[in-house]
Amino acid sequence: MAKRALLTGITGQDGSYLAEHLLGAGYEVWGLVRGQANPRVSRVRTLLQDVRLVRGDLLDQGSLISAVEKVQPDEVYNLGAISFVPMSWEQAELTAEVTGMGVLRMLEAIRVCSGITASRGTAAGQTRFYQASSSEMFGQVRETPQTERTPFHPRSPYGVAKAYGHFLTQNYRESYGMFAVSGILFNHESPRRGAEFVTRKVSLGVARIKLGRSRELRLGNLEARRDWGFAGDFVRAMHLMLTAGEPEDYVIGTGRTHSVRELVEAAFGAAGLDWERYVVTDPGLHRPAEVDLLCADPKKARTQLGWEPTVSFEDLVAMMVESDLRLLAGGGDPGQDSSWP
Ligand code: NAP
Ligand code: GDD
Repeated sequence: MAKRALLTGITGQDGSYLAEHLLGAGYEVWGLVRGQANPRVSRVRTLLQDVRLVRGDLLDQGSLISAVEKVQPDEVYNLGAISFVPMSWEQAELTAEVTGMGVLRMLEAIRVCSGITASRGTAAGQTRFYQASSSEMFGQVRETPQTERTPFHPRSPYGVAKAYGHFLTQNYRESYGMFAVSGILFNHESPRRGAEFVTRKVSLGVARIKLGRSRELRLGNLEARRDWGFAGDFVRAMHLMLTAGEPEDYVIGTGRTHSVRELVEAAFGAAGLDWERYVVTDPGLHRPAEVDLLCADPKKARTQLGWEPTVSFEDLVAMMVESDLRLLAGGGDPGQDSSWP
């Protein structure tokens, strides 16, 4: 019988790539969708026709129990979150509830449905759990590159909420013997990335300028450095973690770091444009507290899981710019809220 996977965050970037990966591996894939008339759900129905949908919300414990009871998953991937860092300052409580407490609710749904207690523990064959942890937890980094042992110093309410979910996942593994793991993923991008994140904001901005629809691109801090990889590579790592022999946490990143300035230079260059003629920096787009430098040491994932990234920074940027040039030339444009930092 096919293994069953339940994904929260199916309407997001990673949900789409992970669903495709698991369907390709022969899984029966279920996606948790929320809301009454969520417009992103119809997109999932069109693009991921083989994914089955179940209703639920990370804010609602009962709905998660019902979803787990209905699907009886072998594997749960908790990708759902308020994931945009600037929003976490504006809606800190909601971020804590969804990104932090949502992890507790999903772990409890699995625990209750599997009849796991501290004294009885977990039997073989029970549901495995993946938590989408984040390099944002390293925040003001204590060392570079960052490993599984680097201490956390989160710099945003989002990072704090992720740290809670991370430690809770570890705690359920230790308290109940659950196969519960966290992937500490560094930034990963793709043509499906939300338009509010910097890589997509830049690739869409370049495409608009190239096609004569815009004359400038407003950005915040150009000096911040990130370890940017391709989302399609990163979802493979999630699956490898959940099918490994032992439940362990892993850092997933490329091991290379670039500044936002280098990203901008590469993206405008991919379209044959000189970025300095178009980019305007706006102090209003700076964050209350910044994460200056992220760079992964993915050695553990390489040696224990055999995981390697396949797409370079330069190819990723070119892929996103080319995709947005095609999208806009074909009449599409996801739009952008220019007030977000
Ligand atoms: P994304 O595109 O922003 O997707 C976020 C997902 O969360 C959406 O499907 C959204 O569904 C869902 N969601 C929001 N509120 C929810 C709620 N109350 N109940 C259930 N689902 C809810 O994020 P992503 O880039 O795919 O990232 C996936 C996960 O990895 C997130 O947890 C993110 O924090 C984490 N992460 C991402 C990166 C990265 O670089 N991409 C790096 C490290 C960690 P709706 O459509 O219903 O809003
Ligand atoms: N979004 C955005 N918009 N970022 C900008 C801008 C701008 O106009 N100008 C400069 N930046 C800088 C930000 O200050 C930040 O240092 C960097 O670009 C990356 O910002 P984002 O792309 O918004 O991503 P993030 O690093 O804050 O968070 C992403 O990666 C985390 C993993 O490290 C998200 O995907 C999180 O969900 C994820 O956990």
